[in-house]
Amino acid sequence: MSIDDLLQEFDSLIPAFEEGLSAVMQADGPSSSSSAALADALEAVRVEFLGRKGRLAGLMAKLGTADPADRPALGQAANRVKEAISVRFDDALAALEKAKADALLKHFDPTVPGRAPTLGGLHPITLVMEEVCQVFQHLGFEIVSGPEVETDWYNFEALNMPGDHPARDMQDTLFIQENIVLRTHTSPLQIRTMLARKPPVAAVAPGKVYRRDSDITHTPMFHQIEGFLVDKHVSMAHLRGSLTAFLQALFGAGTKVRFRPSFFPFTEPSAEVDISCNMCGGKGHKGNEPCRVCKTTGWLEILGCGMIDPEVFRAVGYDSEAWSGFAFGMGVERIAMLKYGVGDLRMFFENDARFLRQFA
Ligand code: DAH
Repeated sequence: MSIDDLLQEFDSLIPAFEEGLSAVMQADGPSSSSSAALADALEAVRVEFLGRKGRLAGLMAKLGTADPADRPALGQAANRVKEAISVRFDDALAALEKAKADALLKHFDPTVPGRAPTLGGLHPITLVMEEVCQVFQHLGFEIVSGPEVETDWYNFEALNMPGDHPARDMQDTLFIQENIVLRTHTSPLQIRTMLARKPPVAAVAPGKVYRRDSDITHTPMFHQIEGFLVDKHVSMAHLRGSLTAFLQALFGAGTKVRFRPSFFPFTEPSAEVDISCNMCGGKGHKGNEPCRVCKTTGWLEILGCGMIDPEVFRAVGYDSEAWSGFAFGMGVERIAMLKYGVGDLRMFFENDARFLRQFA
């Protein structure tokens, strides 16, 4: 075969390849078949021409019989053909991609409103804990936390509730093993904080507590915030002033606050604190209707408090002649129910988004 014939044969591969490509495209237009199948068909054409056993390779095999002087020209021709075919192949693939994108765009309506991502929010219990802590931070208290699994000593003993003390019956305890309990209140943080610091000290401790208790108004897990202050010459007046300021910050400046004598083993004297009912304004009724929230008393019990018992100071090694202090503890769920007017405690733990969204 003459060199001219050979060169011609090389060059004829290019239009032949183009024909192969357009045959595939026409037989299988972008809309009639998946673009993946089409890309496979295009690749088959490429292999037919450029593959190891393809048509270009077939021609190359004939080079062995050509005049050695002609070989450089033939080699160049082979490269040119290979290059041209590759370029056309890449173009065809790019066209395919573009057709795919165009087809997608045809269904894209830029005027359709976007779908807003659903945003989470803080749980109402968290919101109340943060708000309570913030008020006390402004009053100069620091925020502390401690373990939910406690020893008997921190949870009871050091708080002046020895093993046989009847006050233990006030809290239905969940024991992990002997002497290890799920803390029944956040009061152990008084002990832990006093041991870790030197007076003067003032702290609030928010957290989860656990009791073997479950009915409409009790869940086995709930939240408390403990607070206490130790300094020189602390009196009941400081306790009254601090808690009144706190409760009026939380429930409104017009809120009335009253202290009733009570008993807690870790405070002496002890008091329970009521606020005027925020549902009926302390009147006990709304119009002619009796107020169900305060049961017509006009008052809501909100927390327990008192002057820290010398026995507690003894347990942590503070000199009760030199130091005095007050302490208080409150249930977060109860405050959240009163603050937001939620009638059923269980709603806080049902994770119903329609309920929770109202606080976000
Ligand atoms: N620890 C008490 C409870 O869980 C609440 C309490 C009452 C805490 C009076 C105090 C306090 O610090 O002074 O029932």
